[in-house]
Amino acid sequence: MKKVFALIAAFIPAIAMAAGGHVHLDEHRTDLHDTASLQRGAKIFANYCMGCHSMEHARYNRVAKDLGIPQEMMMDNLVFADKKFGDLMTIAMEKEDAKRWFGNPPPDLTLVARVRRPDWLYTYLRSFYEDPMRPWGVNNVVFKDVGMPNVLGHLQGTQKMGTAEVKVGIDPLTGQDITEVEDNVLYLAEEGELSAEEFDKLVYDLVNYMVYMAEPIALERQTLGWWVLLFLAIFFVPVYMLNKEYWKDVK
Ligand code: HEC
Repeated sequence: MKKVFALIAAFIPAIAMAAGGHVHLDEHRTDLHDTASLQRGAKIFANYCMGCHSMEHARYNRVAKDLGIPQEMMMDNLVFADKKFGDLMTIAMEKEDAKRWFGNPPPDLTLVARVRRPDWLYTYLRSFYEDPMRPWGVNNVVFKDVGMPNVLGHLQGTQKMGTAEVKVGIDPLTGQDITEVEDNVLYLAEEGELSAEEFDKLVYDLVNYMVYMAEPIALERQTLGWWVLLFLAIFFVPVYMLNKEYWKDVK
């Protein structure tokens, strides 16, 4: 009985945390067959993220092969510094320096989509908001007191957290938006270089790429699965006939 109580007690903090930390996450409909999206994601990552984040478990040439990017185009657009085509996707930033600058060093992101899940990433990258109390002037809805600056801020615009009019539905008769004034909502205070749809799409591509990175074999595995099923289907015929042959004399 004591053991049972101990077990229950062990779970209580997890339950409390799950309840307290609940934030709505926007859904990311990952599509690893959308090669164009993965290619765009790779480019955005190289341009906006690789200054601070490595993908050190991956190699440029493997990514180029999987995403159908010719070597020359890859070297010109996605591989910077003195890196070679077959190199691991590491970066030059020292962990010690990074810790001093950001509080926490920017983690390697090769596997982040497995740890954080796509919905979380998709929401995180779109949820930075202005907070003058933080060192970089921003905070994040799903990652409180984050140490990362809002690197996509100029594209998205400035978001603020506060009281704003939000859309709660659509009037079925007039087709017009129904709005309500709510507290503690995220709203766009200043437009960025992209529209909201364009920005969402950019982040969509970026997360698609991170999901691919976390499991590059996923695409291959799906194709392999169909071959295995086909093999089993064909294999069934001789096995069935053999089975009949064996039992013929027994009956
Ligand atoms: C100027 C440096 C910098 C740039 C550029 C940058 N980040 Fe970060 N990022 C950080 C730091 C620092 C952290 C650690 C934050 C913390 O732990 O408080 C972080 C954390 C993260 C995390 C959370 C990881 C985890 O699981 O804890 C994700 C995801 C992430 N970054 C994605 C990105 C993406 C995608 C881009 C490109 C659009 C990007 N970052 C660009 C500095 C940067």
